[in-house]
Amino acid sequence: MKGIEIHGYAIVSDDDRIADESGAMPDLLRNDADWAYFQAELDLAALVVLGRLGHEANANPKKRARLVLSSSVPRLERREDGWWWNPATVSWEDAVRTVLPEGGRIAVPGGRRVFDLFLGIGYDAFHLTRAEGVHIPRGVALFSACDEGETAEEVLTKSGLTIGPRQVIDRNGPVSLTIWRRSAAAP
Ligand SMILES: NC(=O)c1ccc[n+]([C@@H]2O[C@H](COP(=O)([O-])OP(=O)(O)OC[C@H]3O[C@@H](n4cnc5c(N)ncnc54)[C@H](OP(=O)(O)O)[C@@H]3O)[C@@H](O)[C@H]2O)c1
Repeated sequence: MKGIEIHGYAIVSDDDRIADESGAMPDLLRNDADWAYFQAELDLAALVVLGRLGHEANANPKKRARLVLSSSVPRLERREDGWWWNPATVSWEDAVRTVLPEGGRIAVPGGRRVFDLFLGIGYDAFHLTRAEGVHIPRGVALFSACDEGETAEEVLTKSGLTIGPRQVIDRNGPVSLTIWRRSAAAP
């Protein structure tokens, strides 16, 4: 969409999990270097799009503009804590035109259903941090396709993104960051 740039952000284990079996984010996926990078990136965004649970779990001291996905709202509504959006009844195009009429950069920090939805809408970039050496059996997958046997890399490639260089952001682990970007040829 013209004037809109969509960036996804996730930290995953080697087996492409964003949370453990209970749905909670384990300490093994919490990393100071990743958090600092993520916060600096959020500062660049005009809007943060996230699931209701992530919204409720993470206070918003910087009062960043948020668009919260939830099936509990009939359509799209403005509340004191941000915009709330039901994607089943209002299209992304209509939602973003209302919330961000001037366009801008959008950060998408998940969780899984939100990551899945934006695969269909189209990421311009996906910032994939990996806690190398960590495995979370039966954990929550980054994308639902990862539960069907696809790797995050395969899903991102299929969605038209191209892998960038692996950067080590914390030698403990190590923890690495790879930024995937839309290829010039991709729609
Ligand atoms: N490692 C990472 O990078 C990363 C990233 C994100 C989250 N996490 C972790 O992953 C765990 C799981 O997060 P989560 O998926 O449970 O939380 P979430 O995505 O923040 O919230 C899920 C809720 O968002 C709403 N939602 C999401 N997609 C929707 C859609 N397409 N249509 C309508 N509503 C939608 C629903 O709210 P309603 O129930 O109101 O309908 C759903 O119950 C948490 O522990 C979180 O910390 C990790």
